[in-house]
Amino acid sequence: MSLQIRSLEAYQKAYQESIECPADFWASIAEQFVWRKKWDKVLDYDWLKPTTQWFLGAQLNITENCLDRHLVTRPDQTAIVWEPNDPNEPSQQISYKELHSQVCSFANVLKNNGVQKGDRVCLYMPMVAELAVAVLACARIGAVHSVVFAGFSSSALAVRINDAQCKVLLTADGGFRGHKITPLKDIADEALKTCPSIQKVIVYQRTRQNITWNPSLDVWWHEELQKVNNHCPAEPMDAEDMLFILYTSGSTGKPKGMVHTCGGYMVYTAYSFQNVFQYQEGDMYWCTADIGWITGHSYIVYGPLLSGATTLMFEGVPSYHDFGRFWEICEKHKVNQFYTAPTAIRALAKYPVELVTKYDLSNLKVLGTVGEPINEEAWHWYDQHVGKHRCPIVDTWWQTETGGIMISSLAGITADKPTFATHPLPGIQPVLLDQQGNEITATKAEGILAIKHPWPSLARTIYGDHKRYKDVYFAAYPTYYFPGDGALRDAGGNYRITGRVDDVVIVSGHNLGTAPIENAVNEHEKVVESAVVGFPHEVKGNALYAYVTTYDDVVPSADLTQEIKEIVSKTIGPIAKPDKIQFVKGLPKTRSGKIMRRILRKIAAKDTSNLGDVSTLLNPEVVQDIINHSL
Ligand code: PRX
Repeated sequence: MSLQIRSLEAYQKAYQESIECPADFWASIAEQFVWRKKWDKVLDYDWLKPTTQWFLGAQLNITENCLDRHLVTRPDQTAIVWEPNDPNEPSQQISYKELHSQVCSFANVLKNNGVQKGDRVCLYMPMVAELAVAVLACARIGAVHSVVFAGFSSSALAVRINDAQCKVLLTADGGFRGHKITPLKDIADEALKTCPSIQKVIVYQRTRQNITWNPSLDVWWHEELQKVNNHCPAEPMDAEDMLFILYTSGSTGKPKGMVHTCGGYMVYTAYSFQNVFQYQEGDMYWCTADIGWITGHSYIVYGPLLSGATTLMFEGVPSYHDFGRFWEICEKHKVNQFYTAPTAIRALAKYPVELVTKYDLSNLKVLGTVGEPINEEAWHWYDQHVGKHRCPIVDTWWQTETGGIMISSLAGITADKPTFATHPLPGIQPVLLDQQGNEITATKAEGILAIKHPWPSLARTIYGDHKRYKDVYFAAYPTYYFPGDGALRDAGGNYRITGRVDDVVIVSGHNLGTAPIENAVNEHEKVVESAVVGFPHEVKGNALYAYVTTYDDVVPSADLTQEIKEIVSKTIGPIAKPDKIQFVKGLPKTRSGKIMRRILRKIAAKDTSNLGDVSTLLNPEVVQDIINHSL
């Protein structure tokens, strides 16, 4: 199957067709997949409600497209290369035939443990190949996977399990990440104290550390595999049946369980993968993300496997055993397409360039970035030292909610431009809106980014809360999808994402809502209230700054700062720990009692020259005091 655009003219033609008649355009792409039953209608939508449905009436199973189809054409080709955390442990090569067999076997394990079509299965796993196997095994039998990043705390895990009412949890004894071992089973045990919906825990053995065993819930992954065969027919799914739930932070307390469905997600992830990365037969593709994030779902697992690609999975971190590890892996596995996050690039750029240049990177053809705006300096470092000025860089803008890459150059086909995501993919209709919600017609402009027309992989709802889905994405600017980002457009129509326009801060590429962090800070018995904002950080892109008020008799101290950080770490995860905590006498508030975060953001960024009018504040006197004591 080739869905590939191979020239600028072909891109322009495809884009034009996709705008003029989206249904015909996507139908012709979808024709190239294996369907149990073709659709009655390509698209039905009403964004005032909002509803979006693609390939209505069609039936398919995504794993038949990821696996079975390739058994005829490429059974012995490597599907997954797995590179362990420890460079001295051997890597694994899993062929399409073997992957098919492993997926079918594990699908039978799931069935034996009571999982049925439509049940939610939570995966809290390290980056072992079995995580990809388990994701596909869920899809094989029509169970809905909900992968929770293994860096989240027990309470964050519990919230996600409970929200989706997961029936089974897949976890491991522990996970290796650099020098650290994460006690995943212990964390899961703690979470399960408040998760009555879980009926079975299937435990993968990775670190062989001591764990507590609960015989009424726990079974060993490897023992369960002994009880099954590798024959498991794929469950026919409606195109609009749920494929997975993946949680993303919102600006208010609770994480949002984004729901992706089978048909549209399949079509769009394969199409975008093949076009953005220009993957060619025989290439070695590596996306460094974790499968706990959407990037891992769409561009480690589904997009590449749907395309019959060889996809590399890395268990570890870029700093272990040293800061040259990414490049060592690129050399070792002759990586052709390399896709990572700006925060990783910035972190690695701080180390001597010999850590890059000592490795043979001559196989690299395409570089990619994702997750946050990439700054000019990082872009040029990546281009010069990794790409040696000969690899196009695809700066891919998209979101958990969009399922696939929305705005990006197509490697070597359309031009890239430092710090710009550039042009939309075929089928994607971005616009810039002014504050009143009117489309800005001038090409060169800055505004609020919005999308005008549905594309196949849009998340259909927030699990269990369609009203919130409407409020967050479709209410501010009716008839548009509102992603929450600002953007500017140059005279050539290239888009550059300028950052979030809501209370979400992207720290090291992780999307963090400030509200849940404030809730965690406020849990400390000595804290009255808090406001958390982002501020620019050299490596992380943004870091978190917490302004905290305490009870009158409390004397702020280093211990208190530490205790607050610990609470955040426990409640959400270490990634959400504020870098700076400033104890203040009061938070600047409007007369209606709303915290003026705009002012706090400026103080955190050390940009206090123009704070705007503070006289309308209820308590303007606190502002100068906060500035005087800022960190
Ligand atoms: O603000 C945008 C930023 O990341 C947000 C989406 O985060 P998440 O759902 O975690 O998905 C990340 C991986 C797709 C967006 O709203 N973002 C993502 N990619 C870029 C970006 N900002 C600028 N440039 C990008 N290439």
